[in-house]
Amino acid sequence: MKRKILLSALLLPAVMAFGQQYGGMWIPTELNEKEMKSLGMKISAKDIFNPDKASIKDAVVQFDGGCTAEVISPKGLLLTNHHCGYDNIQAHSTVENDLLTNGFWAKDMTGELPNPGVTVDFITDIKEVTAQILPGTENLTGADLTKKINENIEAYKKVQKTESYQTISVRSMYYGNKFYAYVIETFKDIRLVGAPPSAIGKYGSDTDNWVWPRHTGDFSMFRIYADKNNKPAEYSKDNIPYTPKHFLPISVKDKKEDDFTFVFGFPGRTTEYLPAIAVEKIMKETDPAMIAVRDVALKTLDEKMRINPATKIQYASKYARVANYWKKWIGEVEGLKKSNAVEKKKQYEQTLISKNPAIKPTIDQLNQKYNEQAPYNLHKAYYSEIVRNSETFTLAGIYSNYIQSYEAGKMDAKNLEALKARLTELYKDYDAELDAKVTAKVLALYADKTPPQFLPKDFGQLKDVNKNLGMMENVSKASIITGRGNMNGVKATDVNKFFTDQKTLVENLKKDPFVQMYGSFKSSYLATTDAKVNALQTDIDALQKKFMAQQMETDKDRKFFPDANSTLRVTYGQVKGSEPRDAVSYGYQTHLAGVMEKYIPGDYEFDLPKKLISLYNSKDYGVYKDKTGDVPVNFTATNHTTGGNSGSPALDAYGNLIGLNFDRQWEGTMSDINYDPKLCRNIMVDTKYILFVIDKYADSKWLLNEMKIVK
Ligand code: ARG
Ligand code: GLU
Repeated sequence: MKRKILLSALLLPAVMAFGQQYGGMWIPTELNEKEMKSLGMKISAKDIFNPDKASIKDAVVQFDGGCTAEVISPKGLLLTNHHCGYDNIQAHSTVENDLLTNGFWAKDMTGELPNPGVTVDFITDIKEVTAQILPGTENLTGADLTKKINENIEAYKKVQKTESYQTISVRSMYYGNKFYAYVIETFKDIRLVGAPPSAIGKYGSDTDNWVWPRHTGDFSMFRIYADKNNKPAEYSKDNIPYTPKHFLPISVKDKKEDDFTFVFGFPGRTTEYLPAIAVEKIMKETDPAMIAVRDVALKTLDEKMRINPATKIQYASKYARVANYWKKWIGEVEGLKKSNAVEKKKQYEQTLISKNPAIKPTIDQLNQKYNEQAPYNLHKAYYSEIVRNSETFTLAGIYSNYIQSYEAGKMDAKNLEALKARLTELYKDYDAELDAKVTAKVLALYADKTPPQFLPKDFGQLKDVNKNLGMMENVSKASIITGRGNMNGVKATDVNKFFTDQKTLVENLKKDPFVQMYGSFKSSYLATTDAKVNALQTDIDALQKKFMAQQMETDKDRKFFPDANSTLRVTYGQVKGSEPRDAVSYGYQTHLAGVMEKYIPGDYEFDLPKKLISLYNSKDYGVYKDKTGDVPVNFTATNHTTGGNSGSPALDAYGNLIGLNFDRQWEGTMSDINYDPKLCRNIMVDTKYILFVIDKYADSKWLLNEMKIVK
């Protein structure tokens, strides 16, 4: 009896330490209510997710298949990040009125702007369905396994009763050891309500991206519209604002270090359960390869963007996209080294083996397979990054597919229209001369780094950057796909004319130097690498599944959560700063004064709108200042988040909205592979800053009047 008491007393801190040690993105129906309460949560797990009753889950949606958003008023008002709404804000922009530069605020509901194609998904139920999906799969691997699982999923879906606006999605967890079914309700009439100018919503841009201390007002607002019965419907001007089952009250209370907080959203992808060998390969081989290609591409773009304002505009969004993961990977490699991830994983594997010797053969085989796959995987990393970063190769890839479809008789009117639309889009922001340089340089890197057995015939001569630059410039001028050369006087950028005589077009494309170069690049990759990588991956997948199951049955003390896979999750932690480096200490909160400290008039990243500056000068802060007298802007906490958590609500102990997740700090981006409570922090926009901007900057009190604000 005595012993028991002692044990449970010891257990609590141990469990708490575990939650923080490994992070966690929990399935909302399987929350660690006890630990959440011990960290300060005042509501219950059922308040967060209840399939039968209104709960917080009814205010959290997946926004357009990628980001997260939340409902913040009884009239279906949605809050998400500026960078999540970016494309839609851009789509409504014209030369005369660029909403990215100026911001946009609807004056009332009639001024809200429809966004065809944008969807919002609610999750109304989650069930574990492993017992329905796994039978009959016991001895299968690879394609056979996938096929049987898909059959079982279809059989499961068939017997479920759903409404016309609902779909069911069955998702694999724990490397195929468990399966969960999600009931999804999709709304399709989503309108833009408001967005600050980029100088607030994207303040600090790429320089500050992934960086703490941060000062970005990364938010935008939309509204869900429904039919007369409050059900999902295609866009119609007769639709009405959606009445949600639940919406989030917004707290403007001051935050204190160690306050409990949780983040509810749709994290995209993590790999927390890899063996040491796999982490080592990422850290030493694939991440550095991808970083190296992007280094070259970004530097080349930057040179011209700096001196040419038109290029600056043309490439800004593309540059930001490439730079985003480039910067993340650099942080990830640093963080993996710093957190000693490989060594820690190795030790963990030894501990597991000592508890359960049956794990040794699994780990040995994983080591063998990952080693065997490594050279192929590295080549794959280079290959994919080259095709992604050379826009001309991307174009060549599209034209090659077109040739195939045309010759297979599959180029009907609809496909042709889609293709032309895609090409028009690409050519709009394509600088062929600049990309010839990018292509020349990334191919030189590729030729230099790639072992002979993988190098396509004639690619060995591309090693010399200077020779390459001259050669590629000539090829680019001669090529018809770059739009610099022409076909009987017609340029590719004149997309409609280019496709009038498809037979002649196909003949000419086949002779095009870039289409040919891309052709040998791709066929060589397919011949040397593709099948091998995939076959080994099938073996690895089977071993990972086994390894995952063995970890779970062996490490009884650890609470496991499935890797992120874009399904709804809850992560929790505390408001906290950090000490990422020797003698460096970060506070948990930034303020408007810090926004001003970074201000560089006229700069493309750190310029500020005049009105914000005058609000700062007059200290017109209303209820939005905190105890320091300044407006809090961003804050950090120990929530375990990843890409896809952008726009996720950060909630307090009572389920009130206190922040809007939008990033992580650079020193902790390895949390996708190895969460470390010392270094990993998520970054959120403070609700006070959001309300301050809506109220004082945008004069949009009508929106505040819809919300429930908790003082
Ligand atoms: N790093 C954040 C996330 O992964 C924000 C990205 C958008 N901002 C930018 N400057 N590129 O997606
Ligand atoms: N900015 C990321 C996104 O777009 C979220 C930040 C992260 O990766 O943690 O989802």
